[in-house]
Amino acid sequence: AADHHADAGIDAGTAAPVTVRVPAKVNVQLAVGGRRADGFHALATVFFAVGLFDEVTARPGEPGEGVTITVEGPDAGVVPTDGTNLAARAAQALATHHGVAADVRLHIAKDIPVAGGMAGGSADGAAALLACDALWGLDTPRETLFALAAELGSDVPFSLHGGVALGEGRGEQLTPVPTQGAFHWVFAVADGGLSTPAVYGECDRLRELAGGPGGADESHVPTPAADRALLDALATGDPAALGAALSNDLQAAALSLRPSLADTLRAGTDAGAIGALVSGSGPTCAFLTKDASDAAAVASALAASGTCRNVRTAVGPVPGAQLS
Ligand code: C5P
Repeated sequence: AADHHADAGIDAGTAAPVTVRVPAKVNVQLAVGGRRADGFHALATVFFAVGLFDEVTARPGEPGEGVTITVEGPDAGVVPTDGTNLAARAAQALATHHGVAADVRLHIAKDIPVAGGMAGGSADGAAALLACDALWGLDTPRETLFALAAELGSDVPFSLHGGVALGEGRGEQLTPVPTQGAFHWVFAVADGGLSTPAVYGECDRLRELAGGPGGADESHVPTPAADRALLDALATGDPAALGAALSNDLQAAALSLRPSLADTLRAGTDAGAIGALVSGSGPTCAFLTKDASDAAAVASALAASGTCRNVRTAVGPVPGAQLS
């Protein structure tokens, strides 16, 4: 192993850049259980990878330089470039695991909305794991990459996994979900993000208001479970059934923190979407449509509605992070 690592270090100095493409996600079901003792919430969530992508490119750094991050894209200014960026933490975690130096220049071409509930930060973490693994010639077993991903954040394993998967535990325990066909989505991106911990906190506050002290704890909130009708809709490729089954337990909390999202959801539904929900912890709103032409129509109606900053269309499911 020591020889292997020494070789990897020498290779890294001259290695060619590695680029990984990684998709955004929408949670087509997000069932939130009670707050656990560790502060996280037990989930039953169905992650769905959609064709909006970030690209992370890893280039060798000078010895001792550490991890550096640069970002391009319309929202580049609001992406942290310090050690808190999940891509930086991923590179560091992988290097530490193998006992190699984390000298790498990471460049993020960002197209996934920032702090939007579409796992953009998690996507970059997953992409950086794969990109650094290839750059440093480490050949890390997939199982180890998933374990490192889970330590980085609850959504990072799914960004590696892609497709459609049921997430349990805090979202990191994945089981693939069978699907058929392609689903056509429209995303309404809000002005400004929402903090994920703040939205979970608001969900707890609303539950305590309704159920009294302890109302948000595991003893009071039913154990979340996957929705059979939703899984059937995915398995048969039935957009109308999926649209009817979409659900997000964080939606009330996101709407409480950002009441204007109700106008966005209504605008998309009025324009003909067959399903609408807040994506993850928000504030991006996701709309399912029957086909590509309906998606274009819903997208232009949303753009004209003045209820969001910009609008994107995307098809899914798509694969998880992969070398491009
Ligand atoms: O795992 P991740 O770092 O993405 O989580 C961000 C925050 O979201 C956590 O600190 C926690 O407040 C909240 N969270 C939660 N339960 C989950 C996942 C996330 O409460 N299952």
